[in-house]
Amino acid sequence: MLTIEPMGQGLGALVTGLDLAQSLSPADFAAVLAGIARHGVLCFPGQHLDPAEQAAFSRLFGTLEVHVSGAFQVPGQPDVMILSNMTADGKPVGLPDAGQDWHTDMSFSRTIAFLNVNYILTVPRRNGVALGDTLFADMAAAYDALPASVQARLRGRTATHDFAKFWDMMRARAGAGSVRAPLTEAQRRTKPPVSHPVVMIHPLSGRKVLYANPGYTVRIDGLPAAESDELLAFLFEHQTRPEFRYAHHWTENDLLVWDNIRTLHNAVADYGPDEHRYMRRCQAMADRVFDPGWSGMRDASIPGAAGDPTARSCRPSAEDPE
Ligand code: SIN
Repeated sequence: MLTIEPMGQGLGALVTGLDLAQSLSPADFAAVLAGIARHGVLCFPGQHLDPAEQAAFSRLFGTLEVHVSGAFQVPGQPDVMILSNMTADGKPVGLPDAGQDWHTDMSFSRTIAFLNVNYILTVPRRNGVALGDTLFADMAAAYDALPASVQARLRGRTATHDFAKFWDMMRARAGAGSVRAPLTEAQRRTKPPVSHPVVMIHPLSGRKVLYANPGYTVRIDGLPAAESDELLAFLFEHQTRPEFRYAHHWTENDLLVWDNIRTLHNAVADYGPDEHRYMRRCQAMADRVFDPGWSGMRDASIPGAAGDPTARSCRPSAEDPE
Protein backbone atom coordinates (compact mmCIF):
# COMPACT_ATOMS: atom_id res chain seq x y z
CA MET A 1 0.00 0.00 0.00
CA LEU A 2 1.27 3.46 -0.92
CA THR A 3 2.23 5.62 2.07
CA ILE A 4 3.61 9.16 2.10
CA GLU A 5 5.31 10.10 5.35
CA PRO A 6 6.54 13.69 5.84
CA MET A 7 10.22 13.91 6.76
CA GLY A 8 10.09 17.24 8.53
CA GLN A 9 8.25 20.52 8.90
CA GLY A 10 8.51 21.83 5.35
CA LEU A 11 9.95 20.01 2.35
CA GLY A 12 10.43 16.26 2.04
CA ALA A 13 8.43 13.04 2.37
CA LEU A 14 9.21 9.34 2.13
CA VAL A 15 7.07 7.31 -0.27
CA THR A 16 6.81 3.54 0.16
CA GLY A 17 4.64 0.86 -1.41
CA LEU A 18 5.36 1.67 -5.07
CA ASP A 19 7.60 -0.10 -7.59
CA LEU A 20 8.45 2.67 -10.06
CA ALA A 21 9.69 0.16 -12.66
CA GLN A 22 6.00 -0.80 -13.14
CA SER A 23 3.37 1.49 -14.62
CA LEU A 24 1.48 3.53 -12.05
CA SER A 25 -2.29 3.29 -11.66
CA PRO A 26 -4.13 6.62 -12.13
CA ALA A 27 -4.88 6.65 -8.38
CA ASP A 28 -1.21 6.14 -7.46
CA PHE A 29 -0.13 8.82 -9.96
CA ALA A 30 -2.63 11.26 -8.46
CA ALA A 31 -1.33 10.43 -4.97
CA VAL A 32 2.27 11.05 -6.07
CA LEU A 33 1.28 14.41 -7.58
CA ALA A 34 -0.56 15.34 -4.40
CA GLY A 35 2.58 14.40 -2.47
CA ILE A 36 4.68 16.66 -4.72
CA ALA A 37 2.19 19.50 -4.23
CA ARG A 38 2.35 19.14 -0.44
CA HIS A 39 5.99 18.23 0.19
CA GLY A 40 8.00 19.48 -2.85
CA VAL A 41 10.60 16.69 -2.50
CA LEU A 42 9.71 12.97 -2.42
CA CYS A 43 12.08 10.06 -1.79
CA PHE A 44 11.18 6.59 -3.08
CA PRO A 45 13.74 4.30 -1.37
CA GLY A 46 14.84 0.86 -2.58
CA GLN A 47 13.99 1.30 -6.27
CA HIS A 48 15.53 -0.80 -9.06
CA LEU A 49 15.30 1.02 -12.39
CA ASP A 50 17.24 0.83 -15.60
CA PRO A 51 17.66 4.08 -17.57
CA ALA A 52 14.66 3.37 -19.82
CA GLU A 53 12.43 2.68 -16.79
CA GLN A 54 13.64 5.87 -15.09
CA ALA A 55 12.87 7.85 -18.25
CA ALA A 56 9.42 6.24 -18.59
CA PHE A 57 8.49 7.21 -15.01
CA SER A 58 9.89 10.73 -15.48
CA ARG A 59 7.96 11.23 -18.72
CA LEU A 60 4.67 10.99 -16.79
CA PHE A 61 5.35 14.53 -15.52
CA GLY A 62 6.37 16.32 -18.72
CA THR A 63 8.57 16.19 -21.79
CA LEU A 64 12.13 15.20 -20.88
CA GLU A 65 14.92 17.69 -21.44
CA VAL A 66 18.06 16.67 -23.30
CA HIS A 67 20.84 18.70 -21.67
CA VAL A 68 22.28 21.44 -23.86
CA SER A 69 25.88 20.32 -23.18
CA GLY A 70 25.14 17.06 -25.04
CA ALA A 71 27.62 15.38 -22.70
CA PHE A 72 27.40 12.46 -20.25
CA GLN A 73 24.22 11.00 -21.65
CA VAL A 74 23.38 7.33 -21.13
CA PRO A 75 24.23 5.67 -24.47
CA GLY A 76 21.04 5.34 -26.51
CA GLN A 77 19.07 7.30 -23.88
CA PRO A 78 19.99 11.00 -24.30
CA ASP A 79 17.25 12.17 -21.92
CA VAL A 80 19.04 10.44 -19.02
CA MET A 81 22.22 12.19 -17.88
CA ILE A 82 24.95 10.75 -15.66
CA LEU A 83 26.23 12.80 -12.72
CA SER A 84 29.34 11.25 -11.22
CA ASN A 85 32.92 11.80 -10.08
CA MET A 86 33.92 8.32 -11.30
CA THR A 87 36.22 7.69 -14.24
CA ALA A 88 36.73 4.87 -16.73
CA ASP A 89 40.01 4.62 -18.65
CA GLY A 90 40.99 7.98 -17.14
CA LYS A 91 37.91 9.73 -18.51
CA PRO A 92 34.95 11.07 -16.47
CA VAL A 93 31.86 8.89 -16.81
CA GLY A 94 29.52 11.70 -15.75
CA LEU A 95 29.32 15.41 -15.00
CA PRO A 96 31.33 15.53 -11.74
CA ASP A 97 30.26 18.94 -10.42
CA ALA A 98 26.57 19.10 -11.32
CA GLY A 99 24.51 21.43 -9.21
CA GLN A 100 27.18 22.31 -6.66
CA ASP A 101 25.72 25.64 -5.60
CA TRP A 102 22.22 27.06 -5.08
CA HIS A 103 20.17 27.06 -8.27
CA THR A 104 16.93 25.95 -9.91
CA ASP A 105 17.34 23.58 -12.83
CA MET A 106 16.26 24.97 -16.18
CA SER A 107 15.19 28.42 -14.92
CA PHE A 108 17.22 29.65 -17.92
CA SER A 109 14.85 27.90 -20.29
CA ARG A 110 11.79 29.42 -21.94
CA THR A 111 9.81 26.40 -20.77
CA ILE A 112 10.92 25.95 -17.18
CA ALA A 113 11.45 22.59 -15.47
CA PHE A 114 8.81 20.95 -13.33
CA LEU A 115 10.31 17.78 -11.89
CA ASN A 116 13.79 16.36 -11.41
CA VAL A 117 13.94 12.58 -11.13
CA ASN A 118 17.37 11.62 -9.76
CA TYR A 119 18.29 8.00 -9.04
CA ILE A 120 21.43 7.22 -7.06
CA LEU A 121 23.44 4.01 -7.43
CA THR A 122 26.64 4.88 -5.55
CA VAL A 123 26.80 7.07 -2.42
CA PRO A 124 30.19 8.34 -1.21
CA ARG A 125 31.00 7.35 2.39
CA ARG A 126 33.76 8.20 4.87
CA ASN A 127 34.05 6.11 8.05
CA GLY A 128 30.62 4.71 7.24
CA VAL A 129 29.00 8.14 7.04
CA ALA A 130 27.22 9.06 3.80
CA LEU A 131 28.45 12.21 2.07
CA GLY A 132 27.18 14.20 -0.90
CA ASP A 133 23.84 15.37 0.49
CA THR A 134 21.55 17.46 -1.68
CA LEU A 135 20.14 20.55 0.04
CA PHE A 136 16.77 22.03 -0.88
CA ALA A 137 15.15 25.37 -0.04
CA ASP A 138 11.40 26.01 -0.07
CA MET A 139 10.43 29.01 -2.22
CA ALA A 140 6.78 29.00 -1.07
CA ALA A 141 7.93 29.44 2.54
CA ALA A 142 10.57 31.96 1.42
CA TYR A 143 7.95 34.03 -0.41
CA ASP A 144 5.60 33.97 2.59
CA ALA A 145 8.42 35.16 4.86
CA LEU A 146 9.40 38.14 2.68
CA PRO A 147 8.68 41.56 4.19
CA ALA A 148 5.46 43.00 2.73
CA SER A 149 7.49 45.89 1.29
CA VAL A 150 9.65 43.46 -0.73
CA GLN A 151 6.59 41.48 -1.86
CA ALA A 152 5.19 44.80 -3.12
CA ARG A 153 8.46 45.64 -4.94
CA LEU A 154 8.37 42.27 -6.70
CA ARG A 155 4.72 42.41 -7.72
CA GLY A 156 4.36 42.14 -11.51
CA ARG A 157 8.16 42.03 -12.02
CA THR A 158 10.10 39.61 -14.20
CA ALA A 159 13.73 38.55 -13.89
CA THR A 160 16.28 37.43 -16.47
CA HIS A 161 17.90 33.99 -16.14
CA ASP A 162 21.07 33.04 -18.03
CA PHE A 163 22.40 29.48 -18.48
CA ALA A 164 25.95 30.80 -18.91
CA LYS A 165 26.03 32.30 -15.37
CA PHE A 166 26.21 28.92 -13.59
CA TRP A 167 28.20 27.11 -16.28
CA ASP A 168 30.88 29.82 -16.42
CA MET A 169 30.99 30.09 -12.60
CA MET A 170 31.59 26.32 -12.29
CA ARG A 171 34.27 26.44 -15.01
CA ALA A 172 36.04 29.27 -13.19
CA ARG A 173 35.78 27.46 -9.83
CA ALA A 174 37.29 24.23 -11.23
CA GLY A 175 40.05 26.09 -13.11
CA ALA A 176 42.09 24.46 -15.86
CA GLY A 177 40.89 20.94 -14.91
CA SER A 178 37.20 21.67 -15.50
CA VAL A 179 35.35 19.03 -17.52
CA ARG A 180 32.96 21.77 -18.61
CA ALA A 181 34.03 22.91 -22.04
CA PRO A 182 33.64 26.61 -22.86
CA LEU A 183 30.15 27.15 -24.25
CA THR A 184 30.19 27.49 -27.99
CA GLU A 185 28.36 30.35 -29.68
CA ALA A 186 25.88 27.76 -31.00
CA GLN A 187 25.19 26.50 -27.45
CA ARG A 188 24.75 30.05 -26.17
CA ARG A 189 22.32 30.72 -29.03
CA THR A 190 20.38 27.56 -28.08
CA LYS A 191 19.91 28.90 -24.56
CA PRO A 192 19.65 32.71 -24.77
CA PRO A 193 18.78 34.58 -21.53
CA VAL A 194 15.04 34.48 -20.80
CA SER A 195 12.67 36.31 -18.46
CA HIS A 196 10.17 34.75 -16.05
CA PRO A 197 7.84 36.25 -13.43
CA VAL A 198 9.66 36.62 -10.10
CA VAL A 199 6.54 35.47 -8.27
CA MET A 200 4.52 32.59 -9.69
CA ILE A 201 1.34 30.89 -8.61
CA HIS A 202 2.24 27.25 -8.19
CA PRO A 203 0.06 25.23 -10.60
CA LEU A 204 -0.47 22.35 -8.16
CA SER A 205 -0.75 24.07 -4.79
CA GLY A 206 -1.98 27.55 -5.72
CA ARG A 207 0.70 29.00 -3.40
CA LYS A 208 2.88 31.94 -4.39
CA VAL A 209 6.50 30.95 -4.96
CA LEU A 210 9.60 33.10 -5.29
CA TYR A 211 11.10 32.24 -8.68
CA ALA A 212 14.67 33.56 -8.69
CA ASN A 213 17.90 31.78 -7.82
CA PRO A 214 21.60 32.58 -7.29
CA GLY A 215 22.70 30.15 -10.01
CA TYR A 216 20.97 31.63 -13.02
CA THR A 217 19.16 34.88 -12.20
CA VAL A 218 21.13 37.86 -13.47
CA ARG A 219 18.77 40.84 -13.09
CA ILE A 220 15.34 42.06 -12.17
CA ASP A 221 14.00 43.46 -15.41
CA GLY A 222 13.18 47.14 -15.67
CA LEU A 223 15.18 48.27 -12.61
CA PRO A 224 18.38 50.31 -12.71
CA ALA A 225 21.39 47.94 -12.48
CA ALA A 226 22.37 48.99 -8.94
CA GLU A 227 18.81 48.54 -7.63
CA SER A 228 18.49 45.17 -9.34
CA ASP A 229 21.83 44.02 -7.87
CA GLU A 230 20.81 45.15 -4.38
CA LEU A 231 17.41 43.43 -4.59
CA LEU A 232 18.88 40.19 -5.97
CA ALA A 233 21.56 40.13 -3.24
CA PHE A 234 18.77 40.46 -0.66
CA LEU A 235 16.68 37.70 -2.28
CA PHE A 236 19.63 35.30 -2.65
CA GLU A 237 20.48 35.69 1.05
CA HIS A 238 16.85 35.42 2.13
CA GLN A 239 15.87 32.38 0.05
CA THR A 240 18.75 30.17 1.22
CA ARG A 241 18.22 30.81 4.95
CA PRO A 242 18.44 27.63 7.07
CA GLU A 243 14.76 27.72 8.11
CA PHE A 244 13.66 27.06 4.51
CA ARG A 245 16.00 24.10 4.00
CA TYR A 246 15.75 20.33 3.86
CA ALA A 247 18.90 18.17 3.50
CA HIS A 248 18.52 14.86 1.72
CA HIS A 249 20.95 12.19 2.98
CA TRP A 250 21.20 9.69 0.13
CA THR A 251 21.08 5.89 0.36
CA GLU A 252 21.82 3.67 -2.65
CA ASN A 253 18.71 3.07 -4.81
CA ASP A 254 16.91 6.18 -3.60
CA LEU A 255 14.91 7.76 -6.36
CA LEU A 256 14.35 11.40 -5.44
CA VAL A 257 11.94 13.72 -7.22
CA TRP A 258 11.80 17.43 -6.61
CA ASP A 259 9.65 20.26 -7.80
CA ASN A 260 11.80 22.91 -9.47
CA ILE A 261 8.99 25.46 -9.43
CA ARG A 262 8.93 25.41 -5.62
CA THR A 263 12.54 24.61 -4.69
CA LEU A 264 16.17 25.60 -5.07
CA HIS A 265 18.83 22.93 -4.60
CA ASN A 266 22.54 22.61 -3.96
CA ALA A 267 24.60 19.40 -4.24
CA VAL A 268 27.13 19.38 -1.38
CA ALA A 269 30.66 18.60 -2.64
CA ASP A 270 32.07 17.28 0.65
CA TYR A 271 33.61 14.09 -0.81
CA GLY A 272 36.93 13.46 -2.52
CA PRO A 273 37.84 12.00 -5.92
CA ASP A 274 38.17 8.49 -4.45
CA GLU A 275 34.82 8.69 -2.65
CA HIS A 276 32.58 7.69 -5.50
CA ARG A 277 29.15 9.07 -6.29
CA TYR A 278 27.03 8.01 -9.26
CA MET A 279 23.50 9.06 -10.11
CA ARG A 280 21.29 9.32 -13.16
CA ARG A 281 19.11 12.37 -13.75
CA CYS A 282 15.99 13.07 -15.80
CA GLN A 283 14.29 16.44 -16.02
CA ALA A 284 10.61 16.71 -16.85
CA MET A 285 9.72 20.12 -18.20
CA ALA A 286 6.75 22.19 -17.03
CA ASP A 287 5.00 21.79 -20.39
CA ARG A 288 2.03 19.94 -18.86
CA VAL A 289 1.80 20.95 -15.24
CA PHE A 290 0.47 24.47 -16.02
CA ASP A 291 -2.26 23.01 -18.20
CA PRO A 292 -5.50 22.93 -16.14
CA GLY A 293 -6.72 20.03 -18.31
CA TRP A 294 -3.83 17.83 -17.29
CA SER A 295 -5.26 14.83 -15.45
CA GLY A 296 -3.03 15.21 -12.46
CA MET A 297 -4.50 18.61 -11.68
CA ARG A 298 -8.06 17.53 -11.16
CA ASP A 299 -7.54 16.25 -7.62
CA ALA A 300 -9.67 18.60 -5.54
CA SER A 301 -8.31 16.99 -2.38
CA ILE A 302 -5.06 18.94 -2.80
CA PRO A 303 -5.63 22.26 -1.02
CA GLY A 304 -5.39 24.95 -3.67
CA ALA A 305 -5.26 22.50 -6.60
CA ALA A 306 -6.92 23.37 -9.89
CA GLY A 307 -9.89 21.14 -9.04
CA ASP A 308 -10.36 22.93 -5.74
CA PRO A 309 -13.07 25.58 -6.23
CA THR A 310 -11.25 27.87 -3.79
CA ALA A 311 -8.06 27.75 -5.87
CA ARG A 312 -6.81 30.81 -7.72
CA SER A 313 -6.07 30.64 -11.41
CA CYS A 314 -2.94 28.68 -12.28
CA ARG A 315 -2.67 30.42 -15.63
CA PRO A 316 -0.80 32.59 -16.43
CA SER A 317 2.07 31.52 -14.25
CA ALA A 318 2.76 35.00 -12.92
CA GLU A 319 1.22 36.02 -9.62
CA ASP A 320 -2.24 37.53 -9.69
CA PRO A 321 -2.15 41.20 -10.67
CA GLU A 322 -3.96 42.40 -7.51
C1 SIN B 1 21.46 18.27 -9.84
O1 SIN B 1 20.65 17.52 -10.43
O2 SIN B 1 21.46 19.49 -9.99
C2 SIN B 1 22.49 17.65 -8.92
C3 SIN B 1 21.89 16.95 -7.78
C4 SIN B 1 22.91 16.16 -7.01
O3 SIN B 1 23.95 15.80 -7.57
O4 SIN B 1 22.68 15.89 -5.84
